[in-house]
Amino acid sequence: MGDRLRVLLVGGGAREHAIAWKLAQSPLLGELLTAPGNAGTAQVGANVPIEAEDVEGVVGFARARGVDFTVVGPEAPLAAGLVDMLLDAGLRVFGPTQAAARIESSKAFAKELMLANGVPTGAAAWFSDYGEALRHLDDAGAPVVVKADGLAAGKGVRVARTRREAEDALRAWMVEREFGDAGEAVLLEERLEGPEVSVFGFVDGRRVSQLAAACDYKLAGDGDTGPNTGGMGSYSPPAPGLWDAEMDARVRREIMEPVVSALAEAGSPFVGVLYAGLMITRDGPKALEFNARLGDPETQVVLPRLRSDLLEAMLCTASGDVDAAPLEWDSRACVGVVMASGGYPGRYATGYAIGGLDSVDADAMVFHAGTREAGDGSVVTSGGRVLTVAALGSAVAEARGRAYENAARIGFTGAQYRSDIGRDK
Ligand code: AMP
Ligand code: GLY
Repeated sequence: MGDRLRVLLVGGGAREHAIAWKLAQSPLLGELLTAPGNAGTAQVGANVPIEAEDVEGVVGFARARGVDFTVVGPEAPLAAGLVDMLLDAGLRVFGPTQAAARIESSKAFAKELMLANGVPTGAAAWFSDYGEALRHLDDAGAPVVVKADGLAAGKGVRVARTRREAEDALRAWMVEREFGDAGEAVLLEERLEGPEVSVFGFVDGRRVSQLAAACDYKLAGDGDTGPNTGGMGSYSPPAPGLWDAEMDARVRREIMEPVVSALAEAGSPFVGVLYAGLMITRDGPKALEFNARLGDPETQVVLPRLRSDLLEAMLCTASGDVDAAPLEWDSRACVGVVMASGGYPGRYATGYAIGGLDSVDADAMVFHAGTREAGDGSVVTSGGRVLTVAALGSAVAEARGRAYENAARIGFTGAQYRSDIGRDK
């Protein structure tokens, strides 16, 4: 393997397959191991049967196998302190410590930090007492946004149009503890209006790189109808009216940099990718939330647009020199369509054979999520979101046409996907 690196990637979704696919293009890579991975990551490296949440297992494996660099995909291991444990073991890692990841794992912490540092965001108050939260509703009225403080797998936000809806969320989370301790405290937040953009910056503890931006689709059905999901598709870049060089500079200055500085001053510098969920309001961009990692499904449309070496960018960032990180973006657009199991995000069956995977165009990308290799070498479904089919094009319309053409060639029993990802963008 020479000087080339043995890299361990933690996670098993389509985001991680996209990261693995991009890392595998690096001349610096020697060996890629993914824990636990899926049938897609198994094509670009080897899978390791350790769950992402099993932080002791991951650290033990990294030590035993002499892993040179660990890249953490999802939020749960970050919030559980995986990065701290790897650093304590003297290992190199891309991702924030548990304290820095609080920017995602506690919405009250994030809101307090934003408000204290003048970051544009919706006004909010937070409560750990149910009665007090109800009294606040008396004054605030509806509409109002109710947010569970802790990690709730993307389900801890209710945009309540009526007081009744807000009360229902408060009762379910604070009293009935639908999300366990994640609902111990809640935020009641002003409802903002405008289009949403997800932005990603590489952060070395002090500085923020130029940003990459994408838009995602959270609801299950066409026209933003139906239940909330983990994400049904995305496209990048957002339309010029929403996102341009000026907006990038403004978001870095007003939203990203103040947060990065505040975390550093608090003694918990953020290293990794910082993700801001923005709403572009009439008064300019405002932060809805921060995440301590790349987004899913945004990564599946952002990384195909990265022309430079992701592994080198991550190594530079992790060693404290984000300015040296090569980050060159393709001017083409990318659209990603998520194919999900029938019934998702509710109950669904798995184990169906996936057909047509080798009939996609050479330049289309099929990022696996809930898939696994069956004993006979075929690939079968194993989760709610099964694949993201992504394609590049000169503009969103062209990329969209290609993504859908390729998605149509893939099939499994009960497959469902939105038909409007990137439409009219
Ligand atoms: P979050 O997990 O904070 O990004 O919230 C999930 C979704 O809820 C966002 O993508 C928005 O669509 C919506 N949301 C969150 N906060 C607000 C807000 N203050 N006003 C309106 N919608 C919001
Ligand atoms: N795209 C939403 C998320 O990754 O949290």
